Amino acid sequence: MNRRNFIKITGLGIGTAALGSTVVGCSDVTPTDNFGWNGPDPAEQDIRMKVLAYAILCPNPHNKQPWIINLTGSHSFDLYVDPERLLPATDPFYRQIHIGQGTFLETLAIAASGLGHEASIDYFPQGMYSNTELLDKPVASIELIERPGITPDPLFAQLLIRHSNKREYDNRSLSQTETETLQSFHGKNNNHALSIVSSAEAKQHFEQILTDAMQIEVGDKGRDHETIAMFRFNEDEVKQHRDGFSVAQAGLSGLKKVFVENFILSRESTEKDPTSFGEQAVTMTQKAAESTATFAWITTTGNSRLDQVIVGREYCRINLKTTAMGLAQHPMSQVLQEYPEMLPLQARFKETFGIDKGDTVQMLFRLGRAEATPHGPRRLVTQIINS
Ligand SMILES: Cc1cc2nc3c(=O)[nH]c(=O)nc-3n(C[C@H](O)[C@H](O)[C@H](O)COP(=O)(O)O)c2cc1C
Repeated sequence: MNRRNFIKITGLGIGTAALGSTVVGCSDVTPTDNFGWNGPDPAEQDIRMKVLAYAILCPNPHNKQPWIINLTGSHSFDLYVDPERLLPATDPFYRQIHIGQGTFLETLAIAASGLGHEASIDYFPQGMYSNTELLDKPVASIELIERPGITPDPLFAQLLIRHSNKREYDNRSLSQTETETLQSFHGKNNNHALSIVSSAEAKQHFEQILTDAMQIEVGDKGRDHETIAMFRFNEDEVKQHRDGFSVAQAGLSGLKKVFVENFILSRESTEKDPTSFGEQAVTMTQKAAESTATFAWITTTGNSRLDQVIVGREYCRINLKTTAMGLAQHPMSQVLQEYPEMLPLQARFKETFGIDKGDTVQMLFRLGRAEATPHGPRRLVTQIINS
């Protein structure tokens, strides 16, 4: 893997190279490995590998899995952003990619506690780079310290269950108790505030804003290709790449799924003309929003790389907590994206919800109830280790 190709962001519109990501991946799947979701191999003795087998299950943008691990000692390793797994058209400043570093760190810290270890995490040990660049420096150094008496984080039990649920929900809002439970779980953190709203008025705004945002997102060649590159059109593509997402994660199953995969969607025709793929995305977004009564977001006053990583940790904890509460959760990030065409709608969204102009909404997601969807695939742990 090449980690040298780091990028100083000099402008927008550099996303058309994203189709290249369709050619990576490997096909050494065994029928029993469940694409990572069985957790570590029971025969695995190396604590680093065990913890990493959980960490790769974290939520991350487009299931890109943008991580590289450098092993630094028998109980330690460094985490880097994989510069070949970015989303430059939709995430031009790699903000979401850094949130996906935080989700990884949180998942590994929880896993470590469940395996009798403390994960000591030193952020940006070689210095933090600015939020407009990506440098060849670790996001974190991690040391796993054996602590036989450690209390496992209760969220450990949710690591193999959690997922982003992209189905339509049942239009019931969270109860006041559920909302308060989540608010007090997140805590009063003025720098990283969690807002949860369930009013009819807010729902109406979100239906409009989220649908408009998807409408803006589609129809641009670079952005379309970036999404299509991560969309898995059939099981063979899933097995080959072990990343991305498919209709299964939107809740399509059985004959319907087989029909869509064989007769409606094909990579060849979609890449040639993404118009109907885009239209589908807008319709699905609208239906998802219409079926939802509770929306939530996490805002930060600063927007440093560390803020983004910490938000990732917090978002991941909330997702694990809602899993424990039997709730469904789904990020809807389009309106938060920083390419120029989205900025006027983003400003309108902030104004509508009284969010300070200077604050950054890092994550926006819906909450509700829905049947679980199948897990998105993960690569092998060995594929993220730098060798
Ligand atoms: C920063 C971030 C942004 C995301 N944005 C979206 C989004 O806009 N739409 C969506 O359907 N999922 C979004 N997701 C969810 C990912 O698609 C999901 O985490 C990934 O496919 C892995 O699936 P899982 O969470 O079910 O394990 C986002 C996740 C993260 C961490």
